[in-house]
Amino acid sequence: MKRKILELLASSHDHFISGETISRVCGISRAAVWKHIDHLKKEGYLIEAVTKKGYRLLGNDDMLETVFFRLPKDRVIGSSHIYLEEVGSTNVEAKAAALDYPDGSVVISDSQTSGKGRLGRYWDSAKGKGIWLSLILKPRISMAEAMILTQMAGAGVCDALKTAGYEAKIKWPNDVVVQGRKVCGILAEMSGEPEQLNYVILGIGINVNQNPSDFPEELRNKAISLKMVDSEEKSRNLILDLLLERLEHYYALVKNKDTAEIIKFCRNNSATLDNQVKVIYNDKIIEGKAINLTENGGLIIEDQTGQTMEIISGEVSVRGIYGYV
Ligand code: BTN
Repeated sequence: MKRKILELLASSHDHFISGETISRVCGISRAAVWKHIDHLKKEGYLIEAVTKKGYRLLGNDDMLETVFFRLPKDRVIGSSHIYLEEVGSTNVEAKAAALDYPDGSVVISDSQTSGKGRLGRYWDSAKGKGIWLSLILKPRISMAEAMILTQMAGAGVCDALKTAGYEAKIKWPNDVVVQGRKVCGILAEMSGEPEQLNYVILGIGINVNQNPSDFPEELRNKAISLKMVDSEEKSRNLILDLLLERLEHYYALVKNKDTAEIIKFCRNNSATLDNQVKVIYNDKIIEGKAINLTENGGLIIEDQTGQTMEIISGEVSVRGIYGYV
């Protein structure tokens, strides 16, 4: 019931909504409305109460769930959501929910106690400091085509951060970097048959309000938060709102099999292309220059002999980024 009231308040944006309306829509007494509002306030929601007008949700720049209640009704991304104050990993929760939730659902949490990074690494997800979410996607594409989804997520994050004023770039395949340091990581996990995916869980972690000391020692010169760029606390709600809108745009392109715009964006905003790279691929180390992205999102590398090859996954070190010289 508390969530229903929050949804009503959030979806009426800055307007007051009377206690009577809330009590009627929710089918509860006025006293019960007051009790739920009091609980929401204790959770940290800023709710203004004015006699004869009712209740109004204020600012709440850091209460992530309100963003979902305010999304346009025709959205696919965020059409359904699960918000958890704390969770082990949103990717694990999303996997558990994947069969019961529709395409585009989002699992989001304020804090992860066992955040998962790529290659079995741990993803630091401090409470209230970032955006930790997982998308449940069910596009009608094959496993072989699924690589486009990580490119799509990279484009969505990078585009949202650029809109917010950051000089963000995509380090292939799917890190987003600012000032040569990682601001976002993406973890895709798939289930399905070669010809048809059941679902893809696309985990996105964006560092928003950490201070340098919030990162573990070994990450201090590789990771960055948005706050560290200009020493200003950022509205997570604003970044989340921009992100959901950009993901909506790029995911619609994937579903329409019209992915040229995604690859074009990734090419134009790449931290990898035109740079020397070192790739660990099939247990071999390949060094060369990153020269292009294929239409499916693969990376083309040219070695010293002029030979080119396409890499479709793997760890890529880019000269000048994360301390690789
Ligand atoms: C990486 O190693 O770069 C990928 C990091 C992915 C982190 C995100 S945070 C939300 C989602 N839930 C997880 O457990 N991991 C992803």
